[in-house]
Amino acid sequence: MPYTPLPSPRILLGPGPSCVTPRVLEALGREPIGYLDPELFTLLGELRSGLRKLFGTSNDFTLPLTGTGMAGMESCLVNLIEPGDSVVIGVAGFFGTRMVEISRRLGAEVTVIEGEWGRILEPEQFEKALKNLSKVKLVGCVHAETSTGIKQPLKAIGKLAHDHGALFLVDAVTSLGGLPVNLDDAGADAAYSATQKCVGAPPGLAPISVSDRAWKAVDARKGAVPNWYYDWKLLRAYFDDAHLYHHTVPVNLYYALNQALAETMEEGMENRFSRHEQVSKLLTDGLNEIGIYPFAQEGYRLPTLNAVIIPADVQDEMAVRKRLLFEYGLEIGGGLGHLKGKIWRIGTMGASATPRNVLLLLAALKSILHN
Ligand SMILES: Cc1ncc(COP(=O)(O)O)c(C=O)c1O
Repeated sequence: MPYTPLPSPRILLGPGPSCVTPRVLEALGREPIGYLDPELFTLLGELRSGLRKLFGTSNDFTLPLTGTGMAGMESCLVNLIEPGDSVVIGVAGFFGTRMVEISRRLGAEVTVIEGEWGRILEPEQFEKALKNLSKVKLVGCVHAETSTGIKQPLKAIGKLAHDHGALFLVDAVTSLGGLPVNLDDAGADAAYSATQKCVGAPPGLAPISVSDRAWKAVDARKGAVPNWYYDWKLLRAYFDDAHLYHHTVPVNLYYALNQALAETMEEGMENRFSRHEQVSKLLTDGLNEIGIYPFAQEGYRLPTLNAVIIPADVQDEMAVRKRLLFEYGLEIGGGLGHLKGKIWRIGTMGASATPRNVLLLLAALKSILHN
């Protein structure tokens, strides 16, 4: 059977995945080695230490989980929550609602802190809810809400969670590698991310980080973790000293992630963060000039995901995105949930975040909108 020669060339400026460098692609193509090969654990040691730097944490249990960002989210919730636990989740976008959905499936009593999509959640909202609840197990929120382009400040929420004896869970999917996450400073006890956005690797791995405090909660569980694959205790027996077989880890993705982390350290984390800022500014300034304005609250806009309001005179926004993709090879994203048809989501993440890509997109958009 003939194979279709996919993919066509693409510049990924959507909400993820983003482009990877040629060196990352090359790394992906190396020969696989076995899941118990000592060299694999040397590689894992490097990955774990690189991820600690990106997360801004000294948490020992920081590693690349097999699976995408959702695997990270699910693994954190399934290990930390037991049926009947009281959980407080901040929701001001699409991904917050997923935390709620998973927590409910696990039998938690969920209190939702509701915010307007496109604005941050205020610590006072959490304070009010926490005051009225007797024993809260976990407070969760999204650091970088990919559906709205909002950067949620974490520190005050982390402090409130701890003051009320709760664990603090952070979704860092669209922030890790693109802006400082500073888990330890924010008081986060667990966090998850994904490799395909700002980290610079392909999809398939979910970096997670778990504090000692969170481990205490895991050790104090009354029942077994209902999901075998993502049970942290079983995973720890593989990733840590015992190296007991758990599953066949995706070693080629490890090679790619290691190369992406090496490139991040070569560039310097601060330089990488400021590149994201500068490229995002170049994009939003350029969009402003053609009458396309930001959607998210001023002062809290992500440098990695630029949510912009679709101009009123655009009749068919999907047709614009299709033309960008098929005529120019440029991918941007549409809105999620009730923002569908109202906003575009333009990613400036990882290797995609370059002035060249942004200037190409601006030129292509201008040409499409004026024709
Ligand atoms: C904030 C946030 N959380 C979770 C996810 C889920 O990640 P994945 O699609 O890699 O499973 C995404 C994906 O876009 C995201 O943006």
